[in-house]
Amino acid sequence: MKDLFERIIKDKGPLGKWAKQAEGYYVFPKLEGPISNRMHFNGKKVITWSINDYLGLANHPEVLKVDGEAAAEHGMAYPMGARMMSGHTKFHEQLEQECADFVDKEAAYLVNFGYQGMVSAIDALVSKNDVIVYDMDTHACIIDGVRLHAGKRFVYKHNDVESLEKNLQRATKMATENNGGILVISEGVFGMRGEQGRLKEIAALKRKYNFRLLVDDAHGFGTLGEGGRGTGFEQGVQDDIDVYFATFAKSMAGIGAFFAADKDIIQYLQYNMRSQMFAKSLPMPMVKGALKRLDMLRTMPELKEKLWANVNALQSGLREAGFDLGTTQTCITPVFLKGDIPEAMAMVNDLRENYGVFCSIVVYPVIPKGLIILRLIPTATHTLEDVKETIEAFSGIRSKLEGGVYKRIAAAMVQ
Ligand SMILES: Cc1ncc(COP(=O)(O)O)c(C=O)c1O
Repeated sequence: MKDLFERIIKDKGPLGKWAKQAEGYYVFPKLEGPISNRMHFNGKKVITWSINDYLGLANHPEVLKVDGEAAAEHGMAYPMGARMMSGHTKFHEQLEQECADFVDKEAAYLVNFGYQGMVSAIDALVSKNDVIVYDMDTHACIIDGVRLHAGKRFVYKHNDVESLEKNLQRATKMATENNGGILVISEGVFGMRGEQGRLKEIAALKRKYNFRLLVDDAHGFGTLGEGGRGTGFEQGVQDDIDVYFATFAKSMAGIGAFFAADKDIIQYLQYNMRSQMFAKSLPMPMVKGALKRLDMLRTMPELKEKLWANVNALQSGLREAGFDLGTTQTCITPVFLKGDIPEAMAMVNDLRENYGVFCSIVVYPVIPKGLIILRLIPTATHTLEDVKETIEAFSGIRSKLEGGVYKRIAAAMVQ
């Protein structure tokens, strides 16, 4: 028999094995200074393209004021305990009603973290007789929620409606045999490549098959649809989404998340979602801060307009410069390049140190071997000067990548 830690100490996992080369720089980097279009990294000012502060609310003076006042009045603890026991307030209720009204649902339920909330909501929504059908590219929180499911699950090819339909046929047979129901799960916006989930086509399948639809709209909330109401509004199918989810961690620049649905469903979640029943509720600065952010989202359409002006300038500029942005239909701007992991690391190092541009890098095993995605997140705080400098920087690093410069640097580093 082995000591449990023997394996853990030897094998740090697919990402952890790069820790020595990557930590503090490619992973766990420290971006410092006020959250904005330009922040400090490694002692230098860089254009920051890796923060989901889409509407630029993170450092908005009105937001800072409300956050600060709420912290001064309530501290960071109030209310203590789980919502069900002692952690409930009229402000939590108010925020839930305002979130529900905003996305045009009867009711909403706040959760402390989107990730845990999603895991727990999936767990609560299905019993062992039910069948889950989900997109293969969904976020880890959905995958982990599905893992808890004791019944059958089918995965369909990413955004492939034909594959979804085939799996719905299998699921219908299985659910009929077990006397259960079907839950289909998609994202509103797929965070890595920036495609919208094909909600319109998925919704159309509801006329043929009997299922309920859960949509994770983490990236769509605040950025898409009339008034930033999300991907369901963007595609005109909000009514077909049975359970709508959005996090406060992106456009709302906070912490927390919510589910919105019919009253009966929300009440069921309140009494059955273990991540909320057995965990302390959201502290008051988060709740009052979210009320303020939601109010700004509703009343300041110029934030979303500025965001999209930047998105359009960045995406059209990169495309004109010959970059491949894949199939993005949203703010998320992936730039696809070809190279191995050491080359990618040398390239990102050059981009950060010599061009002053900070963006996330995605490589194998998250995407296929040989591909590199440099992922840019435009926000309302960016300027056209940021866009111009970035496109010039990208053109510079592409020439070096294609000329083998980074391959040579990476090889020299290994020796
Ligand atoms: C699609 C998606 N769902 C859920 C989450 C988790 O949300 P939170 O950060 O609130 O835990 C994220 C990341 O933040 C996400 O991108």
